[in-house]
This record gives sequence, structure tokens and C-alpha cells, in this order.
Amino acid sequence: MRIVSDLAELRGQVRGWREAGERVAVVPTMGNLHAGHFGLVELARRHARRVVATVFVNPTQFGPHEDFGSYPRTPAKDEQGLRAAGCDLLFRPGVEVVYPRGIDQAVRVEVPGLSDVLCGAHRPGHFAGVATVVARLLNMVQPDVAVFGRKDLQQLQLIRHLVEDLAFPIEIVPGPTRREPDGLAMSSRNQYLDPVERMRAAAIYRCLGEMLDAALAGTAAQAVEAAAMGGLRESGFEPDYAVLRREDRLAESLWGPVSTADRPRLVALVAARLGRTRLIDNLALRDWAPDAAV
Ligand code: PAJ
Repeated sequence: MRIVSDLAELRGQVRGWREAGERVAVVPTMGNLHAGHFGLVELARRHARRVVATVFVNPTQFGPHEDFGSYPRTPAKDEQGLRAAGCDLLFRPGVEVVYPRGIDQAVRVEVPGLSDVLCGAHRPGHFAGVATVVARLLNMVQPDVAVFGRKDLQQLQLIRHLVEDLAFPIEIVPGPTRREPDGLAMSSRNQYLDPVERMRAAAIYRCLGEMLDAALAGTAAQAVEAAAMGGLRESGFEPDYAVLRREDRLAESLWGPVSTADRPRLVALVAARLGRTRLIDNLALRDWAPDAAV
């Protein structure tokens, strides 16, 4: 695996591959990689002959009081895992490569609508930072395919809008969420949890399953959401939201019992704080109860 931090070197290598007729996939990350990320690299390998992973802890997507400074950085472990997962090139740019004019002067990319709801409502500016860095990374690597996890569903949909609207000739491939045995979605932020919080954290996955079961039983969406918020509070969380949505219309609330027309795209989404750790997760009815989703 080649490790590159320079843009010209990255472009030279990717150009070489494409001239040889090889498809190139990219997996953008912020490092501190776990099995969820490595699963995306393996998925990328099934879509392209060459896989590039990027590791860049992007300052513009963190709020002023968020964990940019303490975000876990584990370069040696990341390298080792990426090699084992079959990655061909690791692009690890410095901040001056990604933001050559400095952050204040950087061209910004905004995706209206989706940026302001759910996580966007609780993390002002976060999705502008994500859209800005993803637009740059895609343009730097110039891949045929880019893989993003369903774990961050709102981010995935935002990136789909971005790529479509700016006419990037890139196929977006979603990857499934990898979970711990108790259902907790793998995340770099799980390591912020103390042992008691770690045990409690699995309640998020249970809550998502209960929300989908209640929706299937015909309970109105608002009642499902209110019960989920209450349940999360009882389990010691401070929830930001617990909602039922169609995954292709994340900005729109559902009203009343979920219709059969909405079932194939139905997803439950939760964001909740446990102590100082903010966790997000979502579960599609398609994955939870495939027979009921059709
Ligand atoms: P990061 O949190 O490092 O995640 C990188 C990719 O891994 C994202 O596409 C995310 O959805 C996916 N991922 C995270 N946990 C996962 C899990 N348990 N199973 C499967 N996939 C998982 O998301 C970001 O970085 C950044 O916002 C980024 C897109 C790189 C822009 O800075």
C-alpha cells in the first residue's frame, strides 16, 4: 500500500491506474479505523480494481465546542488495518493541502434542506463542513466510485445530493452498518464511553427496533417518536431526536400510522448523548423485518 500526502503524487498514481483501464474507488474517513471502515474498503474492492482510502480529520465539520482536538488519531493502526483490508493507496493530506487558502478563505459547499434537519439542527455548520471536504476529496482523488456508510445516513443522502447537483461523474455506493455483538453501531466515538455507559449504549439499537415494531403495529409516527424519546431518557440518555422517516425524504416528518407505500423506505433514526458522548444510529425496516418492508 502506497501512502501519499501530496496532491500531485495522488493524481499521478490515480491517472496511471485509469489510463491502464482500472476502475478506482475511494473510501473517505477521519481515521481511527474500525471494522466498519474496513468493511467499506472491502466493499470498495468489489466495485473497483483499485481502492484509495483517505484519512483527514476535517476541522470544518466540528463545532467550536466539539471534539476536534481530542478526536482519536491512530495512524499506525490505521495503516496496518488498511493494508490487511486490501487498500492500494492511503491519502493522508495535511490541512494545507485540503484548505490551501486557509479555512476562512476556503470555498464552501452547502446542500440546502438536508443540512438543517436532524443532526444538522443540533450541529450548526456540521454538514456544510462535510459537504465542503467531501467535494474537495472527491475532486482530489477523482474516483469512479465512492463508498459511504449507512451508519451516517443523513451524510450519505447529503453526499448523493451534492454529487448529483454538481454533476460529479462518480457512483455513490452505500455500505451496511457494522455492529458490536450487542447491536451498538461501531464508531470511533464509542471509546469515549466508560464501562457503564458502554453497557447502556446498546439501548439505542433496541430503541430503533422497538420503533420499527411499533410502526408495523400501526402506532402513529408521532406516538412512536414520543415513546422512543421517553425510553431513551429513562435509559439515561439525553436524546436529540428519535424519528421515523422515509430514507429518501429525511427532511419530512411522517404523520399517523406508516402507510404501506412508505414501508419499503422506512427508517428509524436516533441521536442521543450519553455523558459527554454523542451517538447516532439508524435502522431501516428493510434490514429489520425484510418481509414486512415490501
Ligand atoms: P468517519 O466517521 O471516519 O466515517 C468514515 C466512513 O465510515 C463514513 O462513510 C461512515 O458512514 C462509515 N462508518 C462509520 N461507522 C461505520 C460502521 N459502524 N459501519 C459501517 N460504516 C461506518 O464520516 C466521516 O468520517 C466524515 O464525515 C467524512 C465523510 C470522512 C468527511 O470528513
